[in-house]
Amino acid sequence: MVSSKAARNSHGQDSSYFLGWQEYEKNPYHPTNNPSGIIQMGLAENQLSFDQIESWLESNPDVLGLKHDGASVFRELALFQDYHGLPSFKNALAEFMAELRENKVQFDPSNIVLTAGATSANEILMFCLADPGDAFLVPTPYYPGFDRDLKWRTGAEIVPIHCSSSNNFKITKSALEEACKRAQKKKLRVKGVLVTNPSNPLGTTLTRHELEILVDFICAKRIHLISDEIYSGTCFGIPEFISIAEVISGRIDNVADQVHIVYSLSKDLGLPGFRIGAIYSSNKAVIAAATKMSSFGLISSQTQYLLAMLLSDKHFTASYISENRRRIRIRHDQLVEGLAGIGIPCLESNAGLFCWVDMRHLLDKNTFTSEMELWKKIVYDVGLNVSPGSSCHCTEPGWFRVCFANMSTETLEMAMQRLASFVESGGQGEGPKGSRGLKRFMYWVRQLSLADDRTER
Ligand SMILES: Cc1ncc(COP(=O)(O)O)c(C=O)c1O
Repeated sequence: MVSSKAARNSHGQDSSYFLGWQEYEKNPYHPTNNPSGIIQMGLAENQLSFDQIESWLESNPDVLGLKHDGASVFRELALFQDYHGLPSFKNALAEFMAELRENKVQFDPSNIVLTAGATSANEILMFCLADPGDAFLVPTPYYPGFDRDLKWRTGAEIVPIHCSSSNNFKITKSALEEACKRAQKKKLRVKGVLVTNPSNPLGTTLTRHELEILVDFICAKRIHLISDEIYSGTCFGIPEFISIAEVISGRIDNVADQVHIVYSLSKDLGLPGFRIGAIYSSNKAVIAAATKMSSFGLISSQTQYLLAMLLSDKHFTASYISENRRRIRIRHDQLVEGLAGIGIPCLESNAGLFCWVDMRHLLDKNTFTSEMELWKKIVYDVGLNVSPGSSCHCTEPGWFRVCFANMSTETLEMAMQRLASFVESGGQGEGPKGSRGLKRFMYWVRQLSLADDRTER
């Protein structure tokens, strides 16, 4: 019934990442209406700072009333359809992006293309830079949505850059070269590398050394580098986030034209429903092609107007950025400490809305089949939807991405209680009451309640 293009299974819809969401939708946890339902820990949403935006909206009622200085802007916005976007919004977004990078770099608004979220930004870049059958190298583990966003409609291919736990999943020169060779063997032309920095799912930032390796690599091969910096405002700890923009601004070669940044307000402001994304590139040909493409997924004018007003309020952005980071750090620490209390370690991380959790010791065998078995138990028996590493193309079984910013502290507490019982029972269900592990866990719950006073207002 549908075209062969629409039927192509490169969408990745049947990955456990999306299947977990479906299971959650069938039986969603609610503390009173459905207390035995599935808790959604597979969704990288940021619900920690809504109150800050809501209170700004309350103090600025004109903005939602589509007024400016008391006069209606309704008709202007209703008719606006320029695919270059509202200049006031692009200026405000460029300044916000610089502010997130502590103004170490500046962004020229004329180098921005607005898109309906980072999903659309990544697809547009892929459309502009790769022909069907061309490949982009992407370090593993990577965001499962990339299979859909980079491959499905463009016909481009992803060749994984295999990273491993032996060096905390760092990108190395040899891993890049090895991926290139694999692409050549498959007769794929490599058009570029795409990284997420900070990383989804690792929750870590790329080091300056890794960024230099990447830039040297794309320079030598004369290919492109896309840096998806959608989580740039979530970095809450040391080392600090370094944008690719900073690295290229210090270079004497002309590599800037090969480097493109993707950004979105879905994570830092927690507004995935508003669909606000952007491509930033100083390559004029890419900007011109991407601008034409953006017609298929523009940001509505009232959304641009609202965000232009919000992001132009420098007092708001400064306090939002620091408070949001503080809350993410507290929540991250709660999850890490809770998991440690039941003997589950995480990769040390400094950003993101999730942890990369090491459950290798809970596998029956060191295989992806065992990982799937464990995942099914966690979803159906424990009632937590987490994302298995295999859905992120991780090469080692036993890693899971666990999100922490899309729920209340009480729900996180409930999730940890369930996981503690599961671990205590050796993966069979309810744990024996009063055991050492459970005591350690109850201690953590008490710490969590104390931390609540610090997080919630
Ligand atoms: C790395 C990465 N890129 C892009 C996206 C898509 O974001 P958006 O909601 O802005 O389309 C996500 C969402 O989870 C993501 O994690």
